[in-house]
Amino acid sequence: MRRLLFGPIAGLLFVATTPPAIANGNISFTEIEKAAILSHGPWPPKFRPDPSNRVSGKKSAVTFGRELFRSRFLSRSRRHSCLTCHNPDLAYADGLTRSSAIATVDRNAIALANLRLNRWYGWDGSSDNLWAQSIRPILDPREMNATAGLVAERIRSDVPFSRGYKNVFDSNPKSDDNQKILVNLGKALAAFQETIVTPPSRFDEFRSALENNNLKKIGRYPLAAKRGLKTFIGKGKCNLCHLGPNFTNGEFDDAGVRYFKASGGVDKGRYGGIQNLKKSPYTLLGKFNDNPKNAPGIATQHVARSHQSWGQFRVPSLRNISKTAPFMHDGSVPTLRDVVRHYSELNEERLHLDGSGLLRRLNLSEREISDLVAFLKTL
Ligand code: HEC
Ligand code: HEC
Repeated sequence: MRRLLFGPIAGLLFVATTPPAIANGNISFTEIEKAAILSHGPWPPKFRPDPSNRVSGKKSAVTFGRELFRSRFLSRSRRHSCLTCHNPDLAYADGLTRSSAIATVDRNAIALANLRLNRWYGWDGSSDNLWAQSIRPILDPREMNATAGLVAERIRSDVPFSRGYKNVFDSNPKSDDNQKILVNLGKALAAFQETIVTPPSRFDEFRSALENNNLKKIGRYPLAAKRGLKTFIGKGKCNLCHLGPNFTNGEFDDAGVRYFKASGGVDKGRYGGIQNLKKSPYTLLGKFNDNPKNAPGIATQHVARSHQSWGQFRVPSLRNISKTAPFMHDGSVPTLRDVVRHYSELNEERLHLDGSGLLRRLNLSEREISDLVAFLKTL
């Protein structure tokens, strides 16, 4: 009988005598913890086409968008493509602190994945849709340094690209104006990027095992990850911001990362993002939205700059996080261990006084830090 008190059997015994806890090797989760864990799924999400983009989900647009994504001819010098900074071998990021094409930019490249789940795009939410975000690097003088006129002329005069364009958009680039061509290219690029979805992770396997009370599969999830998960939803309160299936609330906050730019000056973060959004012709409120009825851009209409939005950055998804170092908007944090240490040793005085108030210095032990890292690595 004594033997039964150890190992997985002890867990079983525990559940029989203590109904609110779920058996799980020698770690158990309360019903409240279980509900918190289940809220991070299911995964993958069901694909829903983007109403603002009439070619979203269209097969020919995905193929054409994939070609454009790797084509260097969207850059003035014909030397750079989206791949320069979004490399599929590096989870569609670039592994650099701050990205570089013609010149080095101020921010870390965002790993492209699960993009249909975003409400805002970019670290500062300068775009409210994916096609606008895809146009941005084409025009940025530090990235691809092109213009609407330049890319439109290249599409018109290149036989395969011109054919691809006609095929996707049912219209001839020779008769479309430059702006329309640029936006359409953004829409094809978006259609391709929407297909980049991260597969179910070890965490997702554990989550569904927990949902189905499959003790054998629950037992396969590493103990350290289980302990780290407990900290993530418990003492760490990480899920106040990194919530839901994509581990983000999709909004902006100040996590105490420095906001001075390496190039000098201050990164305004969300404050600047809202400024850009308000003056962009490519938002859901503009004429390029293909379905304002189903994508009315209400959030864009109501968003307003405040003192609080200074130095706020988008809460990033944590999926695939073991593959997307370095971290934070400026790539200033090299490893996951350093990220967790950042939260553990957080300088509370650095945070906005009128901010969300959700972060506190955690003072984690070395073991808690290792466990949290072990958990993050299963995402
Ligand atoms: C010079 C490097 C560079 C190039 C080239 C580049 N990007 Fe990016 N990309 C970045 C950086 C840096 C960010 C983060 C930008 C920010 O928030 O200020 C980013 C962000 C994005 C995002 C936002 C993702 C999200 O979750 O919000 C998308 C989408 C994107 N890029 C698509 C593209 C496409 C499409 C191309 C090619 C047309 C491209 N990028 C070319 C560096 C680059
Ligand atoms: C108040 C909201 C909030 C809470 C709570 C929070 N985070 Fe974050 N997290 C953010 C924001 C915002 C960023 C981006 C900050 C930046 O780049 O300046 C971020 C960035 C990260 C990153 C880097 C992601 C990347 O792609 O660069 C990781 C990893 C991370 N958080 C993990 C955690 C963990 C673990 C906890 C709990 C200990 C936690 N977060 C708690 C808001 C939060």
